[in-house]
Amino acid sequence: MKTRVFSGMQPSGNLHIGNYLGALKNWVRIQHDYECIFCIVDLHAITLYQDPAELRAKIEEIAALYIAAGIDPKVCSIMVQSAVPAHAELAWMLTCVTPVGWLERMTQYKMKAAKQESVGDGILQYPVLMAADILLYQAGIVPVGEDQAQHLELTRDIAQRFNSLYGDTFVVPGTSLPAVGARIMGLDDPTQKMSKSATGANHSVALLDPIDKIRKTIMRATTDSHPAVDVETAGAGVLNLLSIYQAFSNASDEELKQRFTGMRYGDFKKQVAEMVISHIEPFQRRYREITAEPGYLAGVLREGAERVAPIANATVRTVKDRMGLYT
Ligand code: TYM
Repeated sequence: MKTRVFSGMQPSGNLHIGNYLGALKNWVRIQHDYECIFCIVDLHAITLYQDPAELRAKIEEIAALYIAAGIDPKVCSIMVQSAVPAHAELAWMLTCVTPVGWLERMTQYKMKAAKQESVGDGILQYPVLMAADILLYQAGIVPVGEDQAQHLELTRDIAQRFNSLYGDTFVVPGTSLPAVGARIMGLDDPTQKMSKSATGANHSVALLDPIDKIRKTIMRATTDSHPAVDVETAGAGVLNLLSIYQAFSNASDEELKQRFTGMRYGDFKKQVAEMVISHIEPFQRRYREITAEPGYLAGVLREGAERVAPIANATVRTVKDRMGLYT
């Protein structure tokens, strides 16, 4: 049996090149080697308030972007988290074996909580639901960007704790990070991770941004006071642009050095912009085709949920049985 892969993205904000290079690009690469489930995690999105109509539209937008970027829905299951109630069910059972101290230590929790006046319980429980997503399918590999690595360590801790309390039940999953692009930084501020929720006009390149805007955002990216590219001494902004170029082009470190050393920043940025656009433009073309076909996405998502629900339900049955719940 093929190892199962599970990963997901929140349908909040606009998918950007960080999401693509950190996760989606890897999904596309490995989709034929494993049994893959790619989820749109709407239950995670509502841990912060979402406008209901916008959320519903975003769910299909994300599904369309998965496919536009190269995920084949005939090979992989693309599904929405809330369409399979077992996610929420298992999350509760896992909550009951998770010490609150483990959750309070999560960096993302601390960052999100610091921004809120009143912290919703969902923000604290967030990584338990994420553990449920993964453990429900007995996934062996979870391809994500670096910011999710701590949540995956916690997932392993929860799985091991459950297994030791109730007997071997869950596969303990591994994390798969890309060699380049695991942490793409903001173009306006290379000390901050590129984020869907950041508001700055020049912060990110979204996969559906108009091509002109992409060019402008990259041309305005923060660099440093050196006159030209020097790979050895480059500051964070230049290193971020080099990573973006390298992750899109698959160029080696040596090729990067040869191509860019001594190049003035204006010319360098132009090349980065054209490399990014050469990948994103075809995604946008496919996105328009996919979304023009009435009922297509709804069909893909229905089929995805139908395919994975039996796996999820079987795990919940086993967990209920192990815990002594009434089955
Ligand atoms: P989300 O929606 O924030 O991000 C989706 C994926 O994109 C990666 N990513 C980045 N990679 C590189 N550079 C960046 N600047 C960058 N920003 C985001 C993320 O690491 C992620 O892989 N909690 C998850 C969603 C989730 C999940 C899961 C993932 C829910 N359940 C189960 C894996 C398995 C999240 O909020 O991702």
